Amino acid sequence: MKTIVFATGNSGKMREIREILDGLPCRVLSMKEAGITADPEENGTTFSENAMIKARAAAAAVPGTKLDPENTIILADDSGLEIDALGKEPGVCSARYMGRDTSYHIKNAELIRRLKGVPPEKRTARFVCEIAAVLPDGETFTVRGTIEGKIGYEERGENGFGYDPIFYLPDLSRTTAELPMDEKNKISHRGKALRAAREELQRRGLL
Ligand code: IMP
Repeated sequence: MKTIVFATGNSGKMREIREILDGLPCRVLSMKEAGITADPEENGTTFSENAMIKARAAAAAVPGTKLDPENTIILADDSGLEIDALGKEPGVCSARYMGRDTSYHIKNAELIRRLKGVPPEKRTARFVCEIAAVLPDGETFTVRGTIEGKIGYEERGENGFGYDPIFYLPDLSRTTAELPMDEKNKISHRGKALRAAREELQRRGLL
């Protein structure tokens, strides 16, 4: 049986990932469950570079674990929020924006403040997710998923994490924090990227 290790320490992401990969003939482990500790410096300039840095670092740690390298697929993602009116900030710095330990309540308030006076049609933004895969034979690939939305005027909703309460979907008249997880997963950047990764793994006969 194949094992997919998803190289993240974020439990919010891990919940979404398990739901999307549910039903596949493989087990899905977090880094912690796999006994991998890797915390590389994410010094890439793009989401895909950073995703690959994380995936390669986790893959390099597999020989020190109980995992069978011949049957282990490592996936890692890098994701973030691009706000057009702010020159695509916070972008690859989404997690580090205003400091890693600063609460998202404060980060979200600051982004809303910076958009003061920006009219609705110019508040466009997107969540981007790149997933990098390192395969048992050392081959790699990346896939990308995005979701378009607008930055709201206040936080709304209790679901999700991070910037979800200010990411407004005009078509649904709700923020991604107001969507139940299964609805968010159907349309989210990470959901799209994960499904693309799953299809690529199936296309290569690995699942
Ligand atoms: P990463 O863990 O380096 O990929 O950083 C991603 C960061 O982007 C997260 O910590 C959040 O700040 C933000 N982000 C990514 N995806 C989402 C999402 O689905 N909802 C809300 N914020 C997100």
